[in-house]
Amino acid sequence: MNLESLLTKDTQVVAVVDNQFGDTGKGKVVDVFTEWADVVGRGTGGNNAGHTLVIDDKEIVLHLLNVAALYNKTCLLGNGMVINPYSLVNELEEVKKMGFDPNNLMISEDAHVIMPYHIARDQKNNQSLENGGIGSTGRGIGPCYADKIARKGIMIRDLFDKDIIVKKIKKALEHYPEQKLNIDETIDKIIVPAEKIRSYVRDTISEMHRFKREGKKILLEGAQGLLLSVEFGTYPYVTSSDPSLSGTAIGVGLSARDIDLPIGIIKYPFMTRVGGGPFPTEFGGYESEKHCAAGLEHDIFYEVKNYLGMDLDLGKVRKSQQENDFRELIKFEAEVRDYIKSHRNKIVNLMNDHNPFIQGVGIRLAAYEYGATTKRPRRNGWTDAESARYAQMINGTKIVLTKPDCLAGIDEFQICFGYKDKNDQNAGFDRDSNSLREIRPLYRRYKGYSDISKIDNYNDLPVSLKESIEDFEKYTDGKVIAVSNGPRKEEIILKNS
Ligand code: IMP
Repeated sequence: MNLESLLTKDTQVVAVVDNQFGDTGKGKVVDVFTEWADVVGRGTGGNNAGHTLVIDDKEIVLHLLNVAALYNKTCLLGNGMVINPYSLVNELEEVKKMGFDPNNLMISEDAHVIMPYHIARDQKNNQSLENGGIGSTGRGIGPCYADKIARKGIMIRDLFDKDIIVKKIKKALEHYPEQKLNIDETIDKIIVPAEKIRSYVRDTISEMHRFKREGKKILLEGAQGLLLSVEFGTYPYVTSSDPSLSGTAIGVGLSARDIDLPIGIIKYPFMTRVGGGPFPTEFGGYESEKHCAAGLEHDIFYEVKNYLGMDLDLGKVRKSQQENDFRELIKFEAEVRDYIKSHRNKIVNLMNDHNPFIQGVGIRLAAYEYGATTKRPRRNGWTDAESARYAQMINGTKIVLTKPDCLAGIDEFQICFGYKDKNDQNAGFDRDSNSLREIRPLYRRYKGYSDISKIDNYNDLPVSLKESIEDFEKYTDGKVIAVSNGPRKEEIILKNS
């Protein structure tokens, strides 16, 4: 990708955020800009995120660290984040093996610490779909942010003062009576990984402003997506932080005004959502929501066996999952990926099925829309220009479209432009989850396309895809600057007009 046309000599801060429900492929776009940047900062969320990157044909999943770790640039974990020290230490070990110098890491002393009691509560709270559960990632994110707002959180800086940590944990535990926790044990457990990250802890807010003064190139990486924001998303079916453009800036101590080039990612012409909550364009509606809420039961292994007919011993897969036998699981996944590659025709048939639920399964398989770590199925549906218009209003970004190449072979695709409410009146995107469940999406249909992965010039894209993109730009009042057409960094086409 020719970055020069997007960056001017005055561009100092670039931000890449997600304008949907997460998992749009931000990681790749961040990767594209990392070569230019001196510092890559993240301002929200914790290890609920999973950034999948493909580097030298190897897939790498990061949860806390950002891609800077792989380029030996400054990797800054900002004040708005919540950090699980165990996960961070593990991830650090992994990237160290790949040559990352940990001295490039800066952890905000103001970030909050995810404690074991947060994780336990999050997993307990995670009720079923029928009970209106939001299907959190179970990593303790919500309870940790709840403690932050209730002013009983533990900050990274607290970990290094024994008196403070004892006092704070004692106080915090009063709010977790259901967990019969031993204070000394809880402290010991957190102190061990804390010591391992101690030397990287900084006043990152001051550091960030120093970088700005010194003219360093700064890249901000969003987490999750605008529609999952606690401020702007489909509350209460949201994450507990604000991954909007402004939330991302605040989370590293900057203001949205500091951002010279804001980029929003939109998966196109289909999109996904993980967890509960309204999703107007979902293929197969409630049937799909329920199917995906069953999580592991309907993971990639189940779907490949059930819908593509792979001869796979699910019993053996489940056993390795229960035993956390990662070596076996990696082997199973490699077999599944090979099977998917060699059965593309079957997938194309599913993608073109008249039953929307089955079509959704086909598109999920075609685009490999399964949790980066858990392999759970992601809910999917046609791209919703109405919610994208709303995201555009809040984030005001330039847009990069991702993953259209995955739908090669589709006969026809649709984009949602607006809704009708239950009284058949035109309706817009409504943050109220109940109203959003009641609306009916209005679609425009477009002719499908074949393989676009080898195209490197925007003009050579299929006419129907370009027409749809023009309609999308007009409707959302957003400007598409690039289309990503493959997982690798080079596979991205600039759109100049
Ligand atoms: P939490 O962030 O773990 O509290 O989960 C709250 C909601 O956000 C759930 O519906 C999750 O599935 C969703 N969520 C959290 N992180 C991600 C992400 O990185 N991608 C997609 N969905 C996410």
